[in-house]
Amino acid sequence: MKLAFFELEGWEEKTLRDRFPHEELLLIKDRLDEFHLPPQTDAEVISVFVDSRVTEKVLSNFPALRCITTRSTGYDHIDVAECKKRGIVVCFVPGYGNNTVAEFAFGLILNLTRKIYHAIDQIKETGSFSLQGFRGIDLKGKVLGVVGTGRIGKESVRIGRGFGMKVVAFDPRPDAPFAAETGMTYLSLHELLACSDVITIHCPLTPETTHLLNRDNIKTVKRGAYLVNTARGPIVETAALIDALDQGILAGVAVDVLEEEGEIKDEMKFLSQARRPEELVLMLQNHMLMRMPNVLITPHIAFNSREALMRILETTMESINGFLAGKPAHVVPELR
Ligand code: NAI
Repeated sequence: MKLAFFELEGWEEKTLRDRFPHEELLLIKDRLDEFHLPPQTDAEVISVFVDSRVTEKVLSNFPALRCITTRSTGYDHIDVAECKKRGIVVCFVPGYGNNTVAEFAFGLILNLTRKIYHAIDQIKETGSFSLQGFRGIDLKGKVLGVVGTGRIGKESVRIGRGFGMKVVAFDPRPDAPFAAETGMTYLSLHELLACSDVITIHCPLTPETTHLLNRDNIKTVKRGAYLVNTARGPIVETAALIDALDQGILAGVAVDVLEEEGEIKDEMKFLSQARRPEELVLMLQNHMLMRMPNVLITPHIAFNSREALMRILETTMESINGFLAGKPAHVVPELR
């Protein structure tokens, strides 16, 4: 069988060759999308990561395709409904790095509340040991608002409690035993926004969560709060973030994910193709965000620990072996 892997870094290649000695492997560094199609599109299994975009158009280029595995927890970059129509199985990696992402979210939180990045940058850039402008706030005793208490959100709740924070959460499917166990309280989203000193987002990107935080409800955020998004960019409306920062509603923002990350990573290519005005506006807004002093942006690396990557590869190989044996594993909930 022909298996095509996209967005590979290189270190995975030996493991993949060892584990699939009898299959024909296409090992590709580039991402897969409408503008990055490989010369051969006859694979029956493809494996992608988060910069790929497996749209209807991409799918129609792979006539033999029967299984897609994404080496990520989020699978919003794959048209699952279209895969369902075509009888293509979609597998993902649930829960490879619950602690990995939550630990990173707290790294961002501490960078915002204690200005660590700016302080280090000052010393490296100017050699100055001045304390000016570096007063922060304690986390202990502050309110942490967790949006989405799934696998990663729950780890954030635990870490927040470890810091001595009061934790509130919003989730349309609350887990009452977990709340009791950790001493956390579920609130409505509106209540959470109004009382949290630090908001951290851990829900998936779906039609319902797109612009969950938007121009209307961002006005209800507690003045001076900090916001961290390690989930997916479109969950927060970029224009709303800029407004809230301008108006001092948010004291600081740290995001590991942007609306339309592909554009930022490959702007020359992006600009050379015909684009809708909304996409160009979004690109400009991303640049405005990047230039704001109280905004920290990381390039979608919350998943990126050595341990998590090994777990991702293992789970992906399990999914493919399951598919080859006629028993697909780690299938996305929509296709079970
Ligand atoms: P999960 O499926 O275990 O939990 C998601 C939770 O969000 C569930 O409890 C669900 O009920 C809740 N939810 C659904 N709709 C909601 C809404 N409208 N408002 C609030 N909560 C809602 O997912 P997990 O493993 O915790 O991952 C969460 C997301 O984190 C992923 O979907 C992915 O997009 C993102 N992620 C980002 C990474 C990065 O490197 N930046 C790495 C891994 C995941």
